[in-house]
Amino acid sequence: MSEKIVLCEVQDRVALLTINRPDKLNALNKSTIEALSMELDRLQENSEVRGVILTGSGTKAFVAGADISEFADFDKEEGRALAREGQHNLFDKIAHFTKPVIAAVNGFALGGGLELAMAAHIRLASPNAKLGLPEVSLGVIPGYGGTQRLPELIGKGRAFEMIFTGKMIGADEAQGYGLVNRVVPAEDLITESISLMQQILRNSSSAIAAAITCVNAGFDSSKNGYEWEINAFGNCFGTEEFTEGTTAFLEKRKPQFG
Ligand code: COA
Repeated sequence: MSEKIVLCEVQDRVALLTINRPDKLNALNKSTIEALSMELDRLQENSEVRGVILTGSGTKAFVAGADISEFADFDKEEGRALAREGQHNLFDKIAHFTKPVIAAVNGFALGGGLELAMAAHIRLASPNAKLGLPEVSLGVIPGYGGTQRLPELIGKGRAFEMIFTGKMIGADEAQGYGLVNRVVPAEDLITESISLMQQILRNSSSAIAAAITCVNAGFDSSKNGYEWEINAFGNCFGTEEFTEGTTAFLEKRKPQFG
């Protein structure tokens, strides 16, 4: 039987999703995008799961990009469909996931791989991580949100330089840019990601979901982020977790969120 292209392990409310095409440096072909999208749908519905960690199998690559062999002979319409479907079915789904998503960047994160990491809410990287958007070297541009999310994360000037040169940057430089939150030893990357997630999950899941929505609204030109915040803040007052959080504080005990 062939290996699954996306592995999913759930432990203590955290799902670890591993993209499993190590021979192709975990490049994102159509089947991998579909499999990831389906796993995310399942995890969104699974109330036992509160957070997701994304990583790549092997020690060399997180994801080395979209699978170039699949789109080399596409025409304009097919190119548009590739970007549109990828953005809607996977990258936007991750960015708007209502449970926190951490990318554990364990090697090359290039093109669609960096775009995947950028769609996650938080990024940790191993020292061997190499991040870049090399698309212009192929005569194309980033199509899975890279031209939008890179400047959001690191500013326009640095984003233009990375996109124009197509050059990879190392983990430390990426940390200096704010492209990854921090660099941790390769052997600790998954444990650190899980431990960060467990720290997050001590807090109210419904409040975290609301915060994700509001932060995203602030980067969406069709929305007023401040108005979203006002509404979402108000909606927190009706939740059991708000009652538990405030009551626990006043009773000088730790909150017990579901
Ligand atoms: N799409 C399809 N296949 C890819 C791939 C991609 N984005 N990235 C790597 N692979 C495949 C290689 O073709 C090779 O397959 P093969 O063994 O069947 O020939 C295998 O993965 C290993 O890659 P290889 O190039 O031999 O490893 P390397 O260590 O010499 O180089 C990279 C590593 C990441 C520098 C190099 O693979 C690369 O430049 N990849 C493309 C990166 C890119 O442009 N991504 C953006 C796409 S839009």
